[in-house]
Amino acid sequence: MNEIRVTGGNSLHGSISIQGAKNSALPMMAASLLHRGISVLKGCPRISDVFCMEGILRELGAVTWWDDHDLYLDCTEANKTEVSAEYTEKMRSSVILLGVLLARNKKGRIGYPGGCVIGRRPVDLHISALRSLGARITEGGFFIYGECDCLKGNRIILGKTSVGATEQAILAAVTSKGETVLENCAKEPEILWLCRYLKTMGADIQGEGSSVIRIKGVKELSGGTMRVPSDRIVAGTYICAAAITRSEITIENAPIEELEAFLEVYEKMGGQYEDKSGKLRVNGKFVCHPIHCLETEAYPGFPTDLQSPVLAVLATIPGQSHIRESIFEDRFRAAKELVRMGAHIEVKGADARIDGGYPLTGCRVKADELRGGAALVLAAIAAQGETCITGAGFIRRGYEHICEDLKALGCQEIREE
Ligand code: EPZ
Repeated sequence: MNEIRVTGGNSLHGSISIQGAKNSALPMMAASLLHRGISVLKGCPRISDVFCMEGILRELGAVTWWDDHDLYLDCTEANKTEVSAEYTEKMRSSVILLGVLLARNKKGRIGYPGGCVIGRRPVDLHISALRSLGARITEGGFFIYGECDCLKGNRIILGKTSVGATEQAILAAVTSKGETVLENCAKEPEILWLCRYLKTMGADIQGEGSSVIRIKGVKELSGGTMRVPSDRIVAGTYICAAAITRSEITIENAPIEELEAFLEVYEKMGGQYEDKSGKLRVNGKFVCHPIHCLETEAYPGFPTDLQSPVLAVLATIPGQSHIRESIFEDRFRAAKELVRMGAHIEVKGADARIDGGYPLTGCRVKADELRGGAALVLAAIAAQGETCITGAGFIRRGYEHICEDLKALGCQEIREE
């Protein structure tokens, strides 16, 4: 099953609920390794990145099992220290396990992290944060090695705002000796949720959600139990589905408070929404305004993960739109496939210029990364005729049931083959 076939052209209706957040679940899974016992993540998304992280934890000796969407992680015997490249090359967020392995075992070896091909994705900030805490890090061939006598708190100033490096430093610092002050932290909701989860385990953290996080190391952490928050990027993707088909839909449990910058752009396009006691009524019928300059930024700015879905929507809005991608070097990969469907998009470096409003026609297109793949699904449900999207595996990394969800919203013909 690596293709999604879609016959588009009809409007959507009805309601769907949002899965657990991939980018919160993954660091929470890594954090569970800091406790030598059982932790539970409720409402965990059953997506391939979570299964990959589960495979890594099992490789380290953890025992894991599911009860519907509740993931149980027993890390009592998880004392191995090496993560094979087979796993790490599949998923960027595996890199945050190095800090956890150092905190738990005083040593660790991980394969270089892979993940989406959306840019260079170096790990220098991760390595410098761990070195600041007293780890000795060496790089060789396909692996990064770390060891330490014990991790000691320190002042860490991250050279660039990085979600993963912020998570890495937090995970390594929570059981280190002494206090850590982490500056220039990322403020994404997934940082907040990781800290909330760690605090239920007994961690002493202040300032999460701001650019300075203070951590007092504690001797050990107890087991955590927490519900994974709903996925803001999946919710934003489905709002784009309503916008691109000019439809009205309802989204249950959308984390509206985490989507402010995105909803601002959606309204500028002409989109409407109403928060009706936890249900988000979305009305994309009046979407018609191009966006003259949209720039992706670190949270609370416009999220880079919704750049490709919005690119697809702007391709259907008559007029000149412009997107600047400021976070990753190569995140307009879906543009060339959208052009094959009839979109008029010109990409030059960090800028995409869209001459919107040309009709989209179904054809064979290729997804080669997660959010670009989601953008192709959105274009396909709006296009006339049938679209076949190869590389569906990339989409499954982050969307648990995008076909079922869009079918439930009335998309006539959408199936995975
Ligand atoms: C996280 O990736 C997310 N992944 C990404 O979501 C998201 O796009 C990104 O944050 C930005 O919000 C997960 O949470 C698993 P960064 P991450 O470190 O942590 C540079 C998705 O689609 N950088 O915040 O890898 C980096 O190159 C994925 O769900 C360094 O220079 O992103 C980028 O330009 C895609 N050195 C910038 O920082 C480093 O050591 C921000 O990257 C680390 C990062």
